[in-house]
Amino acid sequence: MPARHRPPSAARDLIPDQPELGELRSAAAGCTACDLYRDATQTVFGEGAASSEVMLVGEQPGDGEDRAGRPFVGPAGRMLDQALAEAGIDRELAYVTNVVKHFKFERRGKMRIHKKPNAEQVHACFPWLEAELQVVQPRVLVLLGATAAQALLGSSFRVSRQRGEFLDSDLAPRVLATVHPSSILRAPDEEARTLAYKGFVADLAVVAEELRGPAS
Ligand code: URA
Ligand code: SF4
Repeated sequence: MPARHRPPSAARDLIPDQPELGELRSAAAGCTACDLYRDATQTVFGEGAASSEVMLVGEQPGDGEDRAGRPFVGPAGRMLDQALAEAGIDRELAYVTNVVKHFKFERRGKMRIHKKPNAEQVHACFPWLEAELQVVQPRVLVLLGATAAQALLGSSFRVSRQRGEFLDSDLAPRVLATVHPSSILRAPDEEARTLAYKGFVADLAVVAEELRGPAS
């Protein structure tokens, strides 16, 4: 169903006026606006200070994040941490979140395999991200991978074509899309992985330079 024909997400009713991050986090813990809350362990809300200058947005929590209740703490998170450090961005000073706040998975034996959220789920969860953006108002917004980029910039956005450069968007003074750290982990061989990692660090270095420069 096209976005304009969809009913507003029930998540919106849970968001208080002029919220603080703590209030948003508590409200999101009880969200049932799509079916993903049923099988996941908990809502994984964003993490970081309201005063953060940079916000990083991923797709949705993975297995480790679902258990820990914190974003980007599993293998993709370690890849992100390494690349941020190499690019010169302090993760402690960033607000880190996801487009969808519950883990979506398929069981295979004992494993829980990540499944991509569908358009309905992205739509249902969107008010939470919108509220995080409104509270944090980051100077630089970094979209990690196609799900985040398309949720915020439209479904025709192609990360492969428009990555690593500041985009024309009113979401934040500076908006940049890059690959998702998981895509580096999925690279078919060592050479491809090294190349993908270097590209990711180069994109984050553009962000680091902007953060070092004067506010605009
Ligand atoms: N992948 C994401 O997009 N987000 C996380 O928090 C973890 C893995
Ligand atoms: Fe609510 Fe988002 Fe969880 Fe769906 S994924 S139940 S919209 S918090």
